[in-house]
Amino acid sequence: MPHEKGPAPSRAVPPTHVDANRLWVDSRLRALVQRRVEAPALLRLGGEVTGGRVLELGTGRRGTGLRLALDLFGASRAEGVERHPASVEACRRAVADLGDRVQVRGGDAAALDAADASYDAVFGYHVLHHAEAWRDVVRQAARVLRPGGRLYSCEMTARIVDSRPLRAVSFHPADGDRPTPDTMAAACRDAGLTVVGQQTRAAGCWTALVATRP
Ligand SMILES: C[S@@+](CC[C@H](N)C(=O)[O-])C[C@H]1O[C@@H](n2cnc3c(N)ncnc32)[C@H](O)[C@@H]1O
Repeated sequence: MPHEKGPAPSRAVPPTHVDANRLWVDSRLRALVQRRVEAPALLRLGGEVTGGRVLELGTGRRGTGLRLALDLFGASRAEGVERHPASVEACRRAVADLGDRVQVRGGDAAALDAADASYDAVFGYHVLHHAEAWRDVVRQAARVLRPGGRLYSCEMTARIVDSRPLRAVSFHPADGDRPTPDTMAAACRDAGLTVVGQQTRAAGCWTALVATRP
């Protein structure tokens, strides 16, 4: 997966020898996990967004999160923001059958150009641990949510992202500030959100969180 080099690491993390992120992120198995495990977990925590306008941050290439926003969460319109141009193009092709209910555009989730309070929900599947400024992404999500709107976030945590075996084969920003279950919840609170539910599994390596804007 292409990436930009960030500032010098504040905490040493193990080296990356080969970046095989795409093999997993673009795989059918990844889409299956998202559809069968992650989205249902978020739905249990936060409920549907019936008829809502939603935004997904970091769509990737398969567009699974956008499709799930409509099919599973009941949104009427799903927009996606994705940083890498090749992924934007691939995602547009992947969701072309959904017509004008879906729009995918290039952009940085840490600096959204959307208006304040313009979405009923914001979704992020594994975007925070890839973002250089993940706390800014949380702040931006909070900004664009309408009062009562919800952030649905699902992440691999620092415990696995910064582990030696995963680091060896998978690039992530190396600033030593990957999200943990606790720092994700704290970042939501710092952004003015109220955490309404969180579930952490796999010995703390995976967490799903829903937070609402009061
Ligand atoms: C691990 S992939 C996850 C893709 C998909 N959401 C999924 O769960 O399979 C992370 C995605 O977030 C995107 N991303 C990372 N930082 C971003 C940012 N600041 N703004 C927008 N997209 C970003 C990456 O380009 C990548 O497509």
